[in-house]
Amino acid sequence: MKTYRIAILGCRGRGTAAARAYHAHPRTEIVGLCDLIHERYNALGKELNVSARFTDLDEMIRQTSPDIVAIPTATELHYDLCMRVLEHGVHIEVEKPMCVDLVEADAVIAKAEDKGVQVAVHHQGRVGAAMQAIANAYNAGKIGNLRYIYGSGKGYYGGYGLMNIGTHMLNNMLHFGRSCKSVVAHLTTGGKPITPEDVVPSPSGMGTIAGEYITATMQFEDNVTGTLLQHRFGKMDTNAYTMELFGTEGRLFWKLGGAYYLPTPHYLPDGNNDKWESLALIYPDHYNPKSSADEMDYWFVEDYVNALDEGRPHVCSGDEGRHVIEMMMGIFESAAYGKRVDLPQTDRTHPLLRWREESGLPSPAEMPRGYGEWLNLEKKRIS
Ligand SMILES: NC(=O)c1ccc[n+]([C@@H]2O[C@H](COP(=O)([O-])OP(=O)(O)OC[C@H]3O[C@@H](n4cnc5c(N)ncnc54)[C@H](O)[C@@H]3O)[C@@H](O)[C@H]2O)c1
Repeated sequence: MKTYRIAILGCRGRGTAAARAYHAHPRTEIVGLCDLIHERYNALGKELNVSARFTDLDEMIRQTSPDIVAIPTATELHYDLCMRVLEHGVHIEVEKPMCVDLVEADAVIAKAEDKGVQVAVHHQGRVGAAMQAIANAYNAGKIGNLRYIYGSGKGYYGGYGLMNIGTHMLNNMLHFGRSCKSVVAHLTTGGKPITPEDVVPSPSGMGTIAGEYITATMQFEDNVTGTLLQHRFGKMDTNAYTMELFGTEGRLFWKLGGAYYLPTPHYLPDGNNDKWESLALIYPDHYNPKSSADEMDYWFVEDYVNALDEGRPHVCSGDEGRHVIEMMMGIFESAAYGKRVDLPQTDRTHPLLRWREESGLPSPAEMPRGYGEWLNLEKKRIS
């Protein structure tokens, strides 16, 4: 069985998490680390005993001949770095969200197709132990036919929450809804429907956003609808980051590290309720929970290995990552123009920038990158 050669481009938080998973997996070997900052690749290199360390990504790829290059860097760099790495004809995985708009995502997919390689997007929740348990129960028919999917963020400012956390949740929903045909969304800022003045740069370099509160409805396949809430809470609440599947015969509930099943479609307050049951989480046989690798990142690696072995796309493929961006851009467009947006959209430019330009406003002014500072400034603007 082939051992896949992995190079890590970016050695901070997410690069460290990815590297630990590739290091722990028996079928992958880290052959190179790259960062612009020596301390970062040295710390990771020391931890994982990788001596091939670089500041230049092209040099790393030329010298180490990887099969896969992981690109866990800030979102605004994804497009440029993906294009540069793909030029070498290697498979990639890139952190979420894949890119900041559809023009970029289309170009990355086209480049990968041209080079005959794969793109995977690091939506690890889609393949993690809790989702494996939910998917197993769902495939076993435990909730009958799916009617409706509900998902929520954890309380970030809506537009930022959509790009940052909604990207995971929409990808989770796609597991069951398969593809999204259209979206309808309502976005408010300061309690009023958004206006072109409410189009602002995202914190953390995630492109252009709008909406303090986002309420979106997606039309999936087979008459299934989904609702996504990305509402700003006064205080962040990770427990709100959940997904629920409503079926004709029961319900399934996903949260980070937990999977639950309710054997009735409705929870009625008549004292005759069944209780939510905890489902056993599912891990790869060779996963060692004592290793430093997070189980979701490990599952992500496991699926990449299996995908390449089998010649199929990763479950979190570039196509899925791009479809998630179609949904997110569709949500912005629906609220801006007050209409249903059918997917895939033909105009691939960022709908909020288009909307603002059409209204005669210049590009949004720069804002701080850090979320805390960004939010303070935005709260002042709204009030
Ligand atoms: N999947 C998840 O659960 C999850 C969680 C948090 C963040 N993210 C995503 O991860 C990304 C951010 O990851 P991070 O916080 O580790 O990023 P970061 O910006 O803190 O670190 C990126 C590293 O890449 C290096 N780098 C940047 N350009 C480079 C270049 N040209 N050559 C070599 N090195 C380069 C930087 O020096 C830095 O050390 C974002 O896209 C974010 O949305 C994902």
